[in-house]
Amino acid sequence: MEIDRRRISRLIRESRTRERTLDRVVRSQAWLDPVADVVQKAVGGFYEVLGSPGRAIKNVMYGTKLLGHPLHPALTDLPVGAWTVGVLADWLFIATGRVPPAAGDFALAAGLAGALLAAMTGYTDFHETEGHERRTAVVHGLTMTGVVVIDLISLSLRLSSTGLRPAAVVLSTLAWLIVLFGAYVGGHLTFGIGTAVNHNAFYDGPMEFVKVGTRDDFPEGEMRRVEAGGLPVVILRNKGLLHAMGAVCSHAGGPLHEGKVAEEVVTCPWHASRFRFEDGKVVGGPATFDQPLLVARERGGVVEVKLAHPLK
Ligand code: FES
Repeated sequence: MEIDRRRISRLIRESRTRERTLDRVVRSQAWLDPVADVVQKAVGGFYEVLGSPGRAIKNVMYGTKLLGHPLHPALTDLPVGAWTVGVLADWLFIATGRVPPAAGDFALAAGLAGALLAAMTGYTDFHETEGHERRTAVVHGLTMTGVVVIDLISLSLRLSSTGLRPAAVVLSTLAWLIVLFGAYVGGHLTFGIGTAVNHNAFYDGPMEFVKVGTRDDFPEGEMRRVEAGGLPVVILRNKGLLHAMGAVCSHAGGPLHEGKVAEEVVTCPWHASRFRFEDGKVVGGPATFDQPLLVARERGGVVEVKLAHPLK
């Protein structure tokens, strides 16, 4: 009895310390890195060739402009939803004959159109990933790209001959099952690894003024990092005035105080997101969330800051 109890608690301990299977498998797949290199170079090169319009398009693709949060996760609902409807319509047609066959075809085509948009935003986001996150993103991207290929074959079979419809339905059903895996990996990227999550989401900060230094600690034109009520803050003195915002880049946690500042806009040293000191707004992606904004003041040589508004 005692031995059994010990064995059970050992098994529980082991299961708690074991890395999630997906992460363990992805971590061991070194061949994903060269694939990622090629795709990232292609995406980067594409936007570079476009020049300044390329930067504007990129900001739309990230979700920095128009949406104000990541665009890719929102767009993925289109293909997943349409393909789910398509598979249901196909099998209802086969089982009952009461659903027109065109319903499944139309849903499949709509899903492919949605997948095109999702792929454009997804590959743009992928361009800024690295390490384990990047390998996981390759698995997600390759899975979804494979699904698109299978669904394209299914659609062409449907359009070429009614006799090939059963094979086409089997193919799109198989693709839908693969989508479930791809969507799981995509969800793990966000909820497990933190891709596209606002990296200031779990911070609090001071709602009342707290001292963060004295006048000499903040020389003209330079950024300084301080802590205010547990919140990392970057302070800039420009033309005598103090500006303050969160020092942790909302995109992936880069140290903004190590970035470059020009005309009160700081560029993150990691992936070059740009934030305005005046209001904390993101003015260039890949970040999609603004920085926490703080009010800074100087009284009798003492510098104090407080949040301009609550973070949650
Ligand atoms: S961490 Fe990616 S742009 Fe700052």
